[in-house]
Amino acid sequence: MAYNAIGFNASPRKNGNTAWSIQQILEGSAELGAKTQIYHTSNLDINPCRGCLSCVKGGVCVIADDMQQIYIALKEADAFVLGSPLYMAQMSGQAKVFTDRLFAQITPRFSPSFKEENAGKKLILVFTQGNPDQSRFQAYYEYTKSMFQVLEFDVEDMLIVTGTRSEQANENAELREALRSAGRKLASRTSG
Ligand SMILES: Cc1cc2nc3c(=O)[nH]c(=O)nc-3n(C[C@H](O)[C@H](O)[C@H](O)COP(=O)(O)O)c2cc1C
Repeated sequence: MAYNAIGFNASPRKNGNTAWSIQQILEGSAELGAKTQIYHTSNLDINPCRGCLSCVKGGVCVIADDMQQIYIALKEADAFVLGSPLYMAQMSGQAKVFTDRLFAQITPRFSPSFKEENAGKKLILVFTQGNPDQSRFQAYYEYTKSMFQVLEFDVEDMLIVTGTRSEQANENAELREALRSAGRKLASRTSG
């Protein structure tokens, strides 16, 4: 079966820097024969976690919204590319809502509802920021990466696209190649 990589764009802009960056990574994977799909938060109705803990008791999230289709897509994926713009020095609100909802599916090993089949899923995190200086937010990025590792994702890469205030990401040929190369690496690692 073809290697399956999905992307989730947590920017409200469907044609923005984050969507483009995710797309380049997925196209890199597609160059090696991967099947790919990108989901845009702006097309989806994904509501905040209610903290009802029904998922801990029943194993599934009870909120009937579009996150249900993402749970299935995630389960079937070999690799996942999660992209967010930096908003107020953190992931976007849309990315946070999405991440909270992962609690139902990918709970940490210390939780009694831990589900073995989700362990070790490959993840590339990609953030885009207006500020040209990556080091300004590096502590936050590293913290966020470690949070996804606690969720038992196998974080293959974390890519930071800087300086989108003065230059759109898609104007940068070197960046395009770096993102595609990360996608190729992801596909070759997973299938190998
Ligand atoms: C509400 C808001 C908050 C932002 N906060 C930051 C920030 O704290 N630091 C930064 O470098 N850029 C910040 N930006 C700029 C975005 O991170 C940047 O333009 C990003 O590439 C947008 O991604 P998009 O084109 O996919 O929407 C902010 C933008 C918005 C709209």
